[in-house]
Amino acid sequence: MAENPAYPVGLRLTGRRVVVLGGGQVAQRRLPALIAAGADIHLVSPEATPSVEAMAEAGEITWHRRGYTEGDLATAWYALIATSDTDANTRASAEAEAHRVWCVRSDDADAATAWTPATGSSEGVTVAVLTTEARGRDPRHTAAIRDAVVEGLRDGTLVAPHHRTRTPGVALVGGGPGDPDLITVRGRRLLAEADVVIADRLGPRDLLAELPPHVEVIDAAKIPYGRFMAQEAINDALIEHAQRGKSVVRLKGGDPYVFGRGMEELQALAEAGIPCTVVPGISSSISVPGAAGIPVTHRGVAHEFTVVSGHVAPDDERSLVDWPSLAKLTGTLVVLMGVDKIGRIAETLVANGKSPDTPVALVQEGTTAAQRRVDATLATVAETVVAQDVKPPAVIVIGEVVGVGPRGTV
Ligand SMILES: C[S@@+](CC[C@H](N)C(=O)[O-])C[C@H]1O[C@@H](n2cnc3c(N)ncnc32)[C@H](O)[C@@H]1O
Repeated sequence: MAENPAYPVGLRLTGRRVVVLGGGQVAQRRLPALIAAGADIHLVSPEATPSVEAMAEAGEITWHRRGYTEGDLATAWYALIATSDTDANTRASAEAEAHRVWCVRSDDADAATAWTPATGSSEGVTVAVLTTEARGRDPRHTAAIRDAVVEGLRDGTLVAPHHRTRTPGVALVGGGPGDPDLITVRGRRLLAEADVVIADRLGPRDLLAELPPHVEVIDAAKIPYGRFMAQEAINDALIEHAQRGKSVVRLKGGDPYVFGRGMEELQALAEAGIPCTVVPGISSSISVPGAAGIPVTHRGVAHEFTVVSGHVAPDDERSLVDWPSLAKLTGTLVVLMGVDKIGRIAETLVANGKSPDTPVALVQEGTTAAQRRVDATLATVAETVVAQDVKPPAVIVIGEVVGVGPRGTV
């Protein structure tokens, strides 16, 4: 005879007595969700794992250090039976049945009156997956379905539109250095929910191709700016779309606040009274060297790294960088936007005391299919950049860390 399917339900356990028998791995896995549900948890077990013990010490559960005795379940609303003693489990589940207490059994799903679904959460929604029949139970399969749904919701590959009114506004999203896998889960989800995306040239451009056709994608570099500065024109575009009630994502390369003018955009939005959320991103300053096999720090080699902009030359009066001081540091120097000025940067560092033999690596279009690494020294970098035709975007790493990784592995 076909078995009836389990009836899914969400238990609201705040302040309600839940009894857990057994303090082993099963309890350790299940207790956090019961604690999060606000249950009044009583653990009955002579022993417990160190993690379970820590929950008792923290006052999150009440631990009765003894074995199960008849009557333990009498006033419970819900019970989790997970001891290694089958006889105790059987007696306890008989007591649960007698008192009409829903009861999960870790050793015998058939004998249980409740099953624990595989659960996960995303954005205030709990996904719970149950198999239909005890005989067909395959916990790995249900966990895999849960993972697929939760991950899909988190990264936006599973699009479940919100039907409540969304608050219009702008999300400044750090897209990472370029590889579409290197955006954050939150960034990817906001992108999937956007009506309008204003994107920079750097960053995960491939993700734009995946957006549904109704999403308006605007190339920030192509926003007409007439008498305005380009940045003001971008700010205006963000404000204008948000004021039309759209959910706008401003997709930026790397992290919005690392030479990304993120704060200027946030300030402009704040002045216009538009809500703005900022999602950090993986900055190219660390990830691009890493993708080319260069750690920005290494034990015994570099205890600090400094990230500087090289967009203006050291002798330019607009420069805010103290190059002579940087020349005295022993750690790693990471230069962004410095390809054009690297000759004068190298000269200045050497003139202020850095060895001309200091290793330099230029990593162009890091984390993308076009990634390329060119090595030089402070003495040779100017001519190497020309000879090897190194073009922006590139991250320049100056320091002994350039030589620590095994070459040929990246
Ligand atoms: C305007 S800055 C923006 C930096 C960005 N906000 C970040 O956190 O990575 C642009 C510079 O970042 C560096 N850059 C960004 N993405 C890069 C990549 N994929 N490969 C190499 N350099 C990159 C280059 O130095 C480029 O000139």
